[in-house]
Amino acid sequence: MEFKKLCKYKDGDILNFMEKMEILTANPSDFEAIKALMLEALQNDPTAFSVDFDNYSKNSNEWWKNYLFGYIHGYNATMLLTRTGNEIAGMIGILFDSNRRRSHVASIVWFYVKSGYRHNGIGKKIFEEAMRVIKGKPEIRKITLLVNHPQEHAIKIYKDFGFKIAGTLKNELIINNEPVSEYILECFV
Ligand SMILES: CC(C)(COP(=O)(O)OP(=O)(O)OC[C@H]1O[C@@H](n2cnc3c(N)ncnc32)[C@H](O)[C@@H]1OP(=O)(O)O)[C@@H](O)C(=O)NCCC(=O)NCCS
Repeated sequence: MEFKKLCKYKDGDILNFMEKMEILTANPSDFEAIKALMLEALQNDPTAFSVDFDNYSKNSNEWWKNYLFGYIHGYNATMLLTRTGNEIAGMIGILFDSNRRRSHVASIVWFYVKSGYRHNGIGKKIFEEAMRVIKGKPEIRKITLLVNHPQEHAIKIYKDFGFKIAGTLKNELIINNEPVSEYILECFV
């Protein structure tokens, strides 16, 4: 098994998870799991995203329903989840722009693998699947994403898949009272 080879030094639980792991498109029954995973991502990796746990944890369930609607109903968006049964290890979101002038652009968002599952190739695998989904849409010519400095593991994956840094939004965010720059990455398909 491809994954078994990748994680031969890992313990049995991870091996078991990865052997049976599937990458599935989220549907409405995943609402609670995605909400929990997003909040976990914001809490555990507070420097990785452009929004923060304090804001999002206070949002109402109605807000979450609106926010996740597109992802779980496949309306101008897709969310891919890596899972074995009910256990989810990671996610990646894709946004498709309905604006005619940007209908050739897809954006990648919410790329996250739970810390206990990292360094086993799950991130690359789910990213690869997102690229496959995007490339399956002939109208898409370009993929963009934003990544905070210095998320080097994420940036390495993006570069491995052909993304290039197109610019820097200097001190775009304030995280823990510190200015943080964001890189704009793009990939032409
Ligand atoms: C980025 C992230 C999704 C990667 O998930 P992952 O499952 O660990 O990724 P992989 O195991 O597929 O690793 C991909 C590459 O990164 C490298 N890498 C990952 N973690 C690493 C680490 N801690 N140290 C060194 N290299 C690392 C791997 O070596 C691999 O490169 P290789 O294929 O050349 O060996 C995960 O680290 C994460 O969720 N980070 C926090 C959230 C985040 O930064 N998201 C991006 C927001 S834009």
